[in-house]
Amino acid sequence: MTVTHQPGTAEAQIAEGRLPTTRPAPPADLLAKDRYLSREFLLAELTRMWSRVWQIACMDADIPNVGDYHEYRIGRESVLVVRVAEDQVKAYHNACQHRGRPLKQGSGSAGQLRCPYHGWTWRLDGSLAAVPERQEFCPFADRDVALSEVRVDRWEQFIFVNLDPHAGPLADYLGDLPRRLAPYRLSRQYRWWSRSTVVPVNWKIALDAFQEDYHARYIHPETVSFADYTQNPIELIGDHSMLAARFGMPDRLLEQAPDMEETLDAMQWTFDAFGEDTALITALRQMDLPDGTPLREVLVPLIKAGMAQAGIDVTGLSDTQLVDDYEWFIFPNIQIHTLSFGSWMFRMRPNGLDPESMIFDMWYLHRVPEDVEPPPHAQNVHVEPGGSCGAVMDQDFDNIVVQQQGLHSTGFRGFRLSAMEARIVHMNETLDRYLAG
Ligand code: FES
Ligand SMILES: [Fe+2]
Repeated sequence: MTVTHQPGTAEAQIAEGRLPTTRPAPPADLLAKDRYLSREFLLAELTRMWSRVWQIACMDADIPNVGDYHEYRIGRESVLVVRVAEDQVKAYHNACQHRGRPLKQGSGSAGQLRCPYHGWTWRLDGSLAAVPERQEFCPFADRDVALSEVRVDRWEQFIFVNLDPHAGPLADYLGDLPRRLAPYRLSRQYRWWSRSTVVPVNWKIALDAFQEDYHARYIHPETVSFADYTQNPIELIGDHSMLAARFGMPDRLLEQAPDMEETLDAMQWTFDAFGEDTALITALRQMDLPDGTPLREVLVPLIKAGMAQAGIDVTGLSDTQLVDDYEWFIFPNIQIHTLSFGSWMFRMRPNGLDPESMIFDMWYLHRVPEDVEPPPHAQNVHVEPGGSCGAVMDQDFDNIVVQQQGLHSTGFRGFRLSAMEARIVHMNETLDRYLAG
């Protein structure tokens, strides 16, 4: 089966081997730095944007059994996602209707949801089960103290919540993304690695570093021997977007092409940085390829053979989808890098009410053959400051922490963005729409 791409998409442009012909024009105006520093701006984001968008709270595998719960925090809000029945998930505001204490913190499993303070208890479906010494209260109806529900919906194996009771359906919100991402079979991937860390930057400073590859030549110099960052194709897809980086070819701005050994060493270092298997690079080394070999042409049959050996059907992916790195953005805070063997997902959120602190979650997933039960997902590990999240992620984190400090300079006038940073512009325009509405 040959996969063809809709004309005009980034996949079609790459498959035809040309640089993008149309990209959004760069803005003339600066983006105000206050958006990344001010507490008022964060409060506006929380009350007008985060309170109205669909956001990934967790994955199915975080609450596999009936009674499992998972706490998702966003700004001041805490949402408890609960598996009520094998095929039913509900979400509640995580606040006791007696005096407001959160019912649960973190993840766990329970037959009923009992508040640790005075023992008020709810069934998994959110209805009231018990109030100790209820006769002491002015009479009230059970339904008056039922848990407050939060909208919940799902796409692939991701559980989304929306704090707005009047929000439209998730399918409308995601628009064209499910169709574009379908070939990657995200529901047939399991999370083998999961880390979270707190970074002392505004959540959008972290997001922006994953919205463009312009920085890669300087922050990730090891990668230029096998990734081309010249005029990355960019697509704006409704409120969301996509950027593609071509792998298996040196960056077109390099004056001199690197030799093969240097390229393979760099690939090995990068794969190691994400904890990924390096068998593919070992296979390339054994081929004794002369310098100047167009690597992406060698990689495609190698990847196909490797996937076939693993029993994974990749016939739904085109050659460019097999070899290149497609970076999908779901507004406001999810990045999914789709790769032949799985995906790397990043989730960015504000940390409480501090405009200069954010929570960064990293989930790495691997494809599983269709007829094989996925292995148990990895438990999340919290990485304390100073700990490593992998060499490439550390390069980004080290850089953005310093950048955030630079924003305070009275001499810094604001963000001057290019066509290569069109996704940052688009994200901020979408954000402004929420802030105005
Ligand atoms: S605050 Fe929950 S039972 Fe009192
Ligand atoms: Fe980066």
